[in-house]
Amino acid sequence: MTTPDISDLHGPRRARPASGLRGRLNTSPDKSISHRALILSALAEGRSRLDNLLDSADVLATAGAVQKLGAYVERAGPGSWIVNSGGAWSSPDSPLDLGNSGTGVRLLMGAAARFDLTARFVGDQSLSSRPMERILTPLRQMGVQADAQPGGRLPVMLTGRAPLSAITYQPPMASAQVKSAVLLAGLGADGETCVIEPRATRGHTETMAPLFGAELSVERDGTGLIARIKGPARLHGADISAPGDPSSAAFAVIAALICPDSEVTLTGVMTNPARFGLYQTLQEMGADLTFSPAGERCGEPLVDITARSSTLKNVEVPAERAPSMIDEYPILCVAAAFADGETRMRGLEELRAKESDRLAASAALLEAAGVGVELAPDGLVVHGRGPGGVEGGGLVATRHDHRLAMSGLILGLGARDGMAVDDVSMIATSYPAFLDDLAALGAVIGPV
Ligand code: S3P
Repeated sequence: MTTPDISDLHGPRRARPASGLRGRLNTSPDKSISHRALILSALAEGRSRLDNLLDSADVLATAGAVQKLGAYVERAGPGSWIVNSGGAWSSPDSPLDLGNSGTGVRLLMGAAARFDLTARFVGDQSLSSRPMERILTPLRQMGVQADAQPGGRLPVMLTGRAPLSAITYQPPMASAQVKSAVLLAGLGADGETCVIEPRATRGHTETMAPLFGAELSVERDGTGLIARIKGPARLHGADISAPGDPSSAAFAVIAALICPDSEVTLTGVMTNPARFGLYQTLQEMGADLTFSPAGERCGEPLVDITARSSTLKNVEVPAERAPSMIDEYPILCVAAAFADGETRMRGLEELRAKESDRLAASAALLEAAGVGVELAPDGLVVHGRGPGGVEGGGLVATRHDHRLAMSGLILGLGARDGMAVDDVSMIATSYPAFLDDLAALGAVIGPV
């Protein structure tokens, strides 16, 4: 497997105040869909062709892991992969290192659970501090043996079982990773495995697994859903092309909103409602956004989004919306800093279990820019400074968290004194083209 070089991001950077950002960007491919494409094709028998996958460190870690588990994985060009698999995984001869990727490690533990194998899962400093018990609890109920470090942390030694016992499981937190791990394990269970979500999270596993031949049904139930998958299943190969990532598009969109005299278009953005909560929120804040239909990919409708400089006003973001924008709160905080009035966000306890404690880290980011913020156990209140009112000038501690690094730099583009971040290296985990894309729009992000 040849891998692209995505390692030129390292060290601190400073974003200078910007105006007149202009241009059209191809949206970076969706990370969630890229992980699932590699995992499902490695579980399938036969050949899959995967196009427009995200070439990021997280996705490469998943590709490396499925190769170690027994699939043949070839990178055919930028974002293009051929996966050939016999559909049966075996014990890898070295630990599976998923780097920074919670999605990679958690979905792979679920997918590996159905095989007679033993694997050791490891990750970087950030991933090793994140909770894994949320995955191991249902997997143990299905028959897996798993040993974790104190507090349910990595490294995890997991021994699968064939067949697993089918279960009905209601995750105690809204998590697409937990739902997906159980559904992927359910492919190897003896009967029907069912996941109940009182609040629906992103449904990419449910939409993609049937493309590989899984028998899966979804019943909507108010704000929630019930997903059922039939095991034991034999999957076949499929051709997948990933849509643009609404989470990555958010950075350039908000840069255009907060910088004067700007107009930026992001093409091919996935509009899945379980991923689009930020855009609904921005519209409520008065953002000048235009959405033009742009076809579909992987069964997902796409739009081109044009964002123009806007006068934003404060909003109250309801707790029920959190699952549909769970990765977007740091960048929403940036938009809220440039809005008039107090923006309130609730239902955010899960942010504390992300690549960093994103609730505390987002508050610290705003404080470093001179923006007032109130931090609660499950929410934030941002005291917006209005257009042109954010001072900036500080240094953001990015805490090994890519979304904080990108959010800090976007804030700097709109702030009077710019803004610095201590390290951009983690940006390679989700959006390696971030600095190039911003430069193409006219932003100046350089040495501190
Ligand atoms: C993801 C689910 C979310 C999200 C992550 C990607 C996925 O995590 O934060 O970036 O692809 O399933 P949780 O399941 O922990 O909410």
